[in-house]
Amino acid sequence: MQAEFVASAFTECEFPRETHPEVVLAGRSNVGKSSLINRLAGSKCLARTSSTPGKTRSINFYRFGRDFYLVDLPGFGYARAEKGATVGWKRLVEKYFRDRQSVVLVVHLVDARIPPTRLDMELTEWMKFLEMPQLVVATKADKLSGNEKVVQQRVISSAFGGKPVILASAVTGIGCREIWKRVIECVEASMTRE
Ligand code: GTP
Ligand code: MG
Repeated sequence: MQAEFVASAFTECEFPRETHPEVVLAGRSNVGKSSLINRLAGSKCLARTSSTPGKTRSINFYRFGRDFYLVDLPGFGYARAEKGATVGWKRLVEKYFRDRQSVVLVVHLVDARIPPTRLDMELTEWMKFLEMPQLVVATKADKLSGNEKVVQQRVISSAFGGKPVILASAVTGIGCREIWKRVIECVEASMTRE
C-alpha cells in the first residue's frame, strides 16, 4: 500500500486534523516501532530508526493509501534521556490519547525475547481505562528459534492476561499479514460506524 509522511508533531498544535482513522504503534524505546512501520509500508526509510533508544521524539503521522493513518509514537522507558525531554514526550502522548477521537487501534509492541515490563503493564492498563482496542505484537521474533517462539508467545500472552499475541519481525516480515488483517478490520469497522 502506498504510504506517505503527513506530519511530525512536537506539540499538540502540530497534530493534523482528524480526517482519517488512526492506528497507533506504542511501546518501549528501541522495541522496533518505526522499523515495523517501514516494513508495513514496504519502505526502508519512511520512518527514521536507530540502534540507539530514543530516536523518535515526536508523534509522526503516515497516511496509508487514502484510508487511514499509522501513527508512530516516541518510545517510553528510555532512562538516559534528559529528564525534561521525557516529561515533554509523556505529556504529548497523554494529550494525544486523551483528546484524539480517531484512534481505532493501538498496536502495543513488545520485544519477543523479553517478558513485558512494568511500563508495558501500565500502558495496557491505561489503554483499557481509555477503552482503546489493543493488539499485542511481539517483534524481533527473527531472533528466536522455533521452540523459543512458541514459549515466548505463551509467556507474553499470559502476562497480558491471555490476550492473543502476534509474533512479528520487521526484518523477515513474519506476522505482518496478520497485523494488516487486524488493522484493516478496525479501519473498516470505524468507517461503517460513521
Ligand atoms: P524509539 O524511536 O527510540 O522509540 O525506537 P523504535 O521503537 O522506533 O525502534 P526502531 O524501529 O528505531 O528500532 C530499534 C532497533 O531495533 C534498530 O536497530 C532496528 O534495526 C532494530 N529492529 C527493529 N525491529 C527489528 C526486528 O524485527 N528484528 C531485528 N532483528 N531488529 C529489529
Ligand atoms: Mg521510533
